[in-house]
Parts: sequence; structure tokens; C-alpha cells
Amino acid sequence: MNVLVLGSGGREHAIAWKIKQSPLCTNLFVMPGNPGCAQIATLISGSPKDFNAVKEATLKNHIDLVVVGPEEPLVVGLRDFFEADDALKNVLFVGPKKAGARLEGSKEFAKEFMQKYSIPTAAFKSFCSETIAEADKFLETLKAPYVLKADGLAAGKGVVILNELEAAKEELRSMLSGKFGSASSRVVIEQFLSGIEVSVFVLTDGKDYLVLPEAKDYKRIGDGDKGLNTGGMGAVSPVPFVTEEFMGKVKSRIIEPTIKGLQSEGIDYKGFIFLGLMNCGGDPYVIEYNVRMGDPETEAVMTRIDSDLLSHLVACAKGELRNETIKIAEENALTVVCVSGGYPESYPKGLKITGTILLRENTYSGRVKVFHSGTAMNESGELVTAGGRVFAVTANGSYLSEGDIQKIEEGRASAYDIVDKIIFEGKNFRKDIGLDIIRYIKES
Ligand code: AMP
Ligand code: GLY
Repeated sequence: MNVLVLGSGGREHAIAWKIKQSPLCTNLFVMPGNPGCAQIATLISGSPKDFNAVKEATLKNHIDLVVVGPEEPLVVGLRDFFEADDALKNVLFVGPKKAGARLEGSKEFAKEFMQKYSIPTAAFKSFCSETIAEADKFLETLKAPYVLKADGLAAGKGVVILNELEAAKEELRSMLSGKFGSASSRVVIEQFLSGIEVSVFVLTDGKDYLVLPEAKDYKRIGDGDKGLNTGGMGAVSPVPFVTEEFMGKVKSRIIEPTIKGLQSEGIDYKGFIFLGLMNCGGDPYVIEYNVRMGDPETEAVMTRIDSDLLSHLVACAKGELRNETIKIAEENALTVVCVSGGYPESYPKGLKITGTILLRENTYSGRVKVFHSGTAMNESGELVTAGGRVFAVTANGSYLSEGDIQKIEEGRASAYDIVDKIIFEGKNFRKDIGLDIIRYIKES
């Protein structure tokens, strides 16, 4: 079958890399993709948010299955567009309709959904500029730190956590008066949850579901979780505290009520659900829903799926997931992201990249994969930087469940060995990916 993956980051490179291994895959396309995707697929130029461009690409290349990487095309209704178009409505599609994508597109909707279906999450209230006085009163009832969230999509920047009440009130005013444009015309204020975060990924056809390998991402720019929030500086999978018991709670308290809730709301959901969870003393709470896979978690997660992802995706799109079983490798994956100097604030683009052969050729040496995120080819055919996050380097090592720290250390060494061989001006990366996991295993 012919498959079209939409998106251009490391997540899409990793999804395409996994799909490419399937015997069911005849031709693979990525729109717009990046030079890494070009090693394994045909690139189609254009934006996934340009519905007519996606339609043209789908029809011209006789696409059987579309897989959407980022949330934005879904939030603005790409699947609805496919279903309403006679020429597209029979094309298999992984990704929810606009109504389902509100789980990510509106924090207020997501919080009210969780409240309605008794899914554990932080206590909250939402406010607009007419209800500032009530918002102030609500803030006064909470203990620091104060968590304020723009209701709509704000390019991952819409969550602000502050220690001082006065600063929180000031931030509330700034958000409501357009700090994040219309995304912050409504603001959710919620209770601060302390614990360790974990990302759990579900593929559902609206009735049945598969749980993909879980992962932990490293959000801050600096070692030891210091500095500004980023899109993600690294990931590890598995996460040691995600025991069978913990995952049992995630399924019964969160995944199953979420799917039942979607059904009750009349929302036909076929696609990924990424649960951003907080482990509060052994109990999972939902921090956020996303309607896509995580980045850079996907670059770790895909390398641990031993079954045929394309078969799972087709079954998801057809509503036949009950027939599928996912097989997860007994090995760990560790991903280090190389970013441009200056990221997550301003950074230069177009810097020449040199280094390992893995950047140019599809010679993924067994244990290490180099997924491209923000790269491009310049007019002279040279590989250059084109984004803040430039590469995601993933290493796999066998993982023996009980405290096999040595294997994690080997994985770290392999990943950092390749990271060192990637050369571009201002390259930055975190040196401590996986160290907290090693510490956790040693202490428990
Ligand atoms: P989000 O964009 O919803 O993922 O939020 C960004 C980050 O803010 C999360 O990954 C958490 O680290 C943090 N966060 C969000 N909500 C809370 C909360 N209620 N308590 C503690 N931390 C939170
Ligand atoms: N790594 C977190 C995200 O993709 O939102």
C-alpha cells in the first residue's frame, strides 16, 4: 500500500522509518518531510495545513493511508475535510476529527471532559476577561506554585508556572489581554501537581486500543532540568516506575474512561492519544492530552516496537484494532536531541552540518539511529540547519528489567558518541539524558 506521512520533524522521520520496515508498505511519501525522511521516502512539498495540497498529493500518488504527525492539521479539521470529499472519503486516515482534536486544541474542553468522566487530573477553573475578579479569588485559594494555561494552541508555550501570587495575577492579565493571541482569551488555572512525569501513548480506533512503549522526555534546555522549557531535549524508554501495577491504573482510570467518554460524546476517534501524566505517589494524573505522538519521545518509542506498526495503523483506521497485538522490545532506547545555539530563544538557520555518514545515508548502524528534525538541503546541495531542534540521536541497548544500569550506560555512550560526531556551529545538547533513570534504579 501507498502511505503518506504528514509533518517534517524527527517524529515524522521516526514514524516513516518504522512504517518503511513493513512488508505492507509499497511506496512511502512524507509531506513536507526533511532530508532524513528523503533517505527512506519520497518527499512532497507543501504544508499539511493546506488541505488542497494534501488532497492533490493523496490523489496523485494513489495514497491508501494518511498518517498525521502534528496536531495542527487535525485541530483545523483535516480529517473532516477528507470525510466530506467524495474522492478522499475512502482513504484510510490515522488522526481524529476536529471534535476529537479538541482534547489538545482546547485545555478547557479537555479539563471539563476529564471532570465529567472522573478521569484524575488537577483541580481547575477556567476564566476569561469578564471573570478576572473570580480568577483572582480562585488563585488566592490555591497554594504556590500557580499554574496558568492558555486555552488554545500556543506552540507549546502556553503554560506558565509561577511561585508568587502577585506574579500569577499579573500573568493572568497579560494572557487574557492577548499574550498568546486568541489562544489565551480563556485561561485555565489549576492546582500544581508534584511528581514525576511520564508520556504514555495509545493508538485507538474509538473502541479498542494498543498501548505503545512509554517514555520520559527532558523538557528544560539545561542539565539538571535547569533553564527554559523547550520542545524536548531528549527521551528515554522504558521508564522504570511504570510498573505493571502503575500501567494497570493508567488503563482502568484513564485510558478506558477516556475512550468511553469519547464514545458518550459521540466523538469517533481514530488516532493516537498521548497522555502527559504525573505520577503522584504511585497514582497517575493527566497533565494534558495530545492528539499526536510526542517529539522527541517518538524517536525513542518507535525503535522499541517489534510488531508491524503499519498493520496497527491500518487496523486503527479501519476500526479493527481488536485483532492487533503490539510487541514491545525488551531493550531500552535513549534519545539525545542536538539543538541550535540560542534555542529555545532565537537561533540562526542555514548553518552547514558535517560529520557522521549516518546523516546522509540510510546506514542506520544497528544500535544508533540519527533522526532528522530541523535540517534542510541548501541550494548547493549541502545539509544545513533549519530549526531549533536539529537531530534526535537514538541508541538502543538491551534492557534487563532488574537494575541493569550497565546497559543504559552503554546506550548513553553509543548515543553521545554519535552526537559528538555531528558538527555544526553552536551545537548544543544536554549531557545528562538518562542519568536520572540510572539514579532512580540505584535508589530503588
Ligand atoms: P503542558 O503544555 O500542558 O504539557 O504543560 C507543560 C508542562 O508544565 C508540563 O509538562 C508540566 O511539566 C508542567 N505542568 C502543567 N500542568 C501542571 C500541573 N498542574 N502541575 C505541575 N506541573 C504542571
Ligand atoms: N515532548 C512533548 C511533546 O511532544 O509535546
